[in-house]
Amino acid sequence: MPHITIDDTDYDVTTGRNLLQACLSLGLNLPYFCWHPAMGSVGACRQCAVKQFHDKDDRHGRIVMACMVEATDGTRISIDDPEAVKFRASVVEWLMTNHPHDCPVCEEGGECHLQDMTVMTGHAYRRYRFKKRTFRNQNLGPFITHEMNRCIACYRCVRFYREYAGGRDFDVFAAHNHVYFGRHEDGVLESEFSGNLAEVCPTGVFDDKPFAKVYERKWDLRGTPSVCVHCALGCNITPNERYDTARRILNRYNSEVNGYFLCDRGRFGFDFVNSQMRLRQLLLRKDDDGEPKPATKAEVLRHLTGLLSSHKTIGIGSPRASLEANFALRELVGAERFHLGLSASEQELLALIIDILQRGPARAASLKDAERADAVLILGEDVPDTAPRLALSLRQAIRQKSLETADRMKIPRWQDAAVRNAAQQERSPLFIATPDATRLDDVATSTFRGAPTDLARLGFAVAHEIDAASPTVLDLADDIRMLARKIAEALKNAKRPLVVTGTGCTSAAMIHAAANIAWALCRGGRQGALSFAVPECNSLGLGLIGGGTLQGAFEAVERGEVDTVVVLENDLYRRAERGAVDGCLDRARHVVVIDHLMHGTARKAEIVLPAGAFTETEGTLVSNEGRAQRFFQLLVPEEDIQGSWRWLRDLLHGSGRNSGWARLDDVTAACANALPTLASIPQAAPGADFRVNGAKIRRETHRSSGRTAIHAAASVHEPKPPEDPDSPLSYTMEGYFGPMPSPLIPYFWAPSWNSVRAVNKFQDEVGGQLRGGDPGVRLIEPTFEAVPHYFEGVPEAFAQRAGEWLIVPLHEIFGSEELSRLAPAVGERVPQSYLALNSDDAVSLHIAEGAMVTVSLAGEVSHLPVKLRPDLPPGVAGMVAGLCGSTGIFLPAWGQLTTGSGAVGDEVGHHE
Ligand code: SF4
Ligand code: SF4
Ligand code: FES
Repeated sequence: MPHITIDDTDYDVTTGRNLLQACLSLGLNLPYFCWHPAMGSVGACRQCAVKQFHDKDDRHGRIVMACMVEATDGTRISIDDPEAVKFRASVVEWLMTNHPHDCPVCEEGGECHLQDMTVMTGHAYRRYRFKKRTFRNQNLGPFITHEMNRCIACYRCVRFYREYAGGRDFDVFAAHNHVYFGRHEDGVLESEFSGNLAEVCPTGVFDDKPFAKVYERKWDLRGTPSVCVHCALGCNITPNERYDTARRILNRYNSEVNGYFLCDRGRFGFDFVNSQMRLRQLLLRKDDDGEPKPATKAEVLRHLTGLLSSHKTIGIGSPRASLEANFALRELVGAERFHLGLSASEQELLALIIDILQRGPARAASLKDAERADAVLILGEDVPDTAPRLALSLRQAIRQKSLETADRMKIPRWQDAAVRNAAQQERSPLFIATPDATRLDDVATSTFRGAPTDLARLGFAVAHEIDAASPTVLDLADDIRMLARKIAEALKNAKRPLVVTGTGCTSAAMIHAAANIAWALCRGGRQGALSFAVPECNSLGLGLIGGGTLQGAFEAVERGEVDTVVVLENDLYRRAERGAVDGCLDRARHVVVIDHLMHGTARKAEIVLPAGAFTETEGTLVSNEGRAQRFFQLLVPEEDIQGSWRWLRDLLHGSGRNSGWARLDDVTAACANALPTLASIPQAAPGADFRVNGAKIRRETHRSSGRTAIHAAASVHEPKPPEDPDSPLSYTMEGYFGPMPSPLIPYFWAPSWNSVRAVNKFQDEVGGQLRGGDPGVRLIEPTFEAVPHYFEGVPEAFAQRAGEWLIVPLHEIFGSEELSRLAPAVGERVPQSYLALNSDDAVSLHIAEGAMVTVSLAGEVSHLPVKLRPDLPPGVAGMVAGLCGSTGIFLPAWGQLTTGSGAVGDEVGHHE
């Protein structure tokens, strides 16, 4: 551990860090712009200058950039040296020569790293008296604003967008005093990580556009620790509120999960909570033919008396509801009458995934594990669309080889430009086997396209190449066997191999094959890791609770065994065939829906109970990694709305059973006691009784304008602050702020650090874990006792059929997910539903891009425009899950295509 001296004080610091990292990790304030903890140093801005001395007798020293010098044993530096102080002040002055000084109207104002660093360096007076350079700004689409005049040319944006996230439609143009950061022309930023520009840019060039439209001063925003609900990765987020409305999402650092970055679906999808589709009132339908009408809680509960007391009630749970809400429903109806509310295929795959993770020696990879993987195989999953943040981690994984090269050349890993120069195009192996092209293909070692069965066969073949004891794949083409061998070699030679798959292709064989590969690696003494992309924010949690199938629920209703169906946060029309859902909802005498959105199922309900969305309630979600994480309420919902678990508790009480649940902790504890696999969920966050110095942790900073000021237009009398019985967080600026448990951090702020960069002050060391450990508790750890028996059942190779296409599910980051598409900004990016068709097939059929075709599949007919996809294998077509109605539930399935001139395709079936 190097021993260094900073301003005559001695410190021990971590080996291999640069001086800026060392200073920040020690809690010292040293300004910087271009360095980023996830992206390293390039020494561009000159803001982190310090004076370095040769030894203690050296009185002159020399100015160095702290981010470019390693903290080695005996290093002596001064932050406070007058020459260094003056140098830093002059740097910020020149960087701001052309800055418009428009802080009062800048969205970044009050939360701006440039403001903070300007104050920190003591630059207070503007001396430049000449005309400023000005730029024309661009319309970059619905997510990000552009105000180039505020740029200080730190290059962080372009480094993030191009080098870190792989975007190609954004760059730096021109030179010298005119450098311009943007697109070559106006247009939507293509990268699904564009929202991070708002946090990466240290000033107000790029900001959150939806937030700018409902702008509030940043210091007046209330924050709360929360978890993204738009896929299963469990990225940690900080939603912000003002005037009882959720306003925006910020990244909440968790070193094991999302680190410093979110995807755009997670950042901008939250606005569904403010959508027109929100259910805000209790609704009651008094007669069969009438419309549901608004009713009071007392009226509804009275109406429900007697409906739930018999054993003729079943519950249908949800993968987008918390563990506590699902468990409360299970308690209401009894474990044997609790159904998971998943499509049949999804429930089967989820059970399989949980079984593999629980039985196997392969670790469920965190996003951090994925980032460190040094050889990756993606089997069947369109990761950028189904698990977007994982794609960003995998983009970093391919750099592992170049980092090792840098280690050999003794170039510190944080020397970003030097490492990239030394490595050139050197990449760790990444193999992608999917039905269609993905947005990770540009960094893949090789790609393989095939129907799901062919992808699974490739996977089985890879496992067999690693361990001959795993099943053989017969009749494999030579080129595929060679590829399998190449992949197997790469995985075997890696220290941290990773196999990524999931439910995206709806193929059990694919999951079997992925497990076999990971297990074969483990059997050979290696650390095989698995990452399963599952669809929703609590898919894995729901699977761990367990329950009956949706089909079982429908059959029970059909047999007349059920009077009342209680549906929790679930639109069943997304889960099962329309006729089956209609049959169930029509036959059941009473249907109760608890949800925050109006949808097809809610429209059929006799009683609708308006549930809190993730911003209005609290609970625990289990990510695809098996990490249980707590999300907390951001705001007190309108009168009728309450969290689902509270509605279910009320129903329990209404049916004469006293749950004894006064607050969330009681439900969490009951769930942990009842279900051994969930025993540790109370540890996901401190309970509601947690206090620091007798105080709750405050959700607002002391910078907030305060309650009196907020309501001054109506009354200057201070209203009583709302109370939160479910968490150790207060809603106001009253309470504790200081060192706190990481799951409870409502915002990152520290004296002199008003932007997200204040996270430095909450970490063990910069870029490391949060103090006391990152939030969440892993529920599933690998068992090393024995490698399970390999899965058998290698599928037959795909064979085209004359006049039919195998239609596989495709995914769109904006559109496939149920909630985010209701956010107006995301809605602008949702494509029209389409049929994806192999280009050669389309030529044979004389179908051009955009032509309308009729797709007949599983008894349903859809009329869709054609999109040509050259990568899709011949005989395979695709439809977008989530955009093609209930048809998506049956995919993959064989379907027929018809154009205006009739049925097509007999000729295609023959050109193998
Ligand atoms: S736009 Fe922002 S991030 Fe990009 S160079 Fe300018 S100041 Fe830096
Ligand atoms: S990757 Fe998933 S969890 Fe993370 S921000 Fe995006 S949608 Fe949310
Ligand atoms: S942060 Fe060191 S030169 Fe920019």
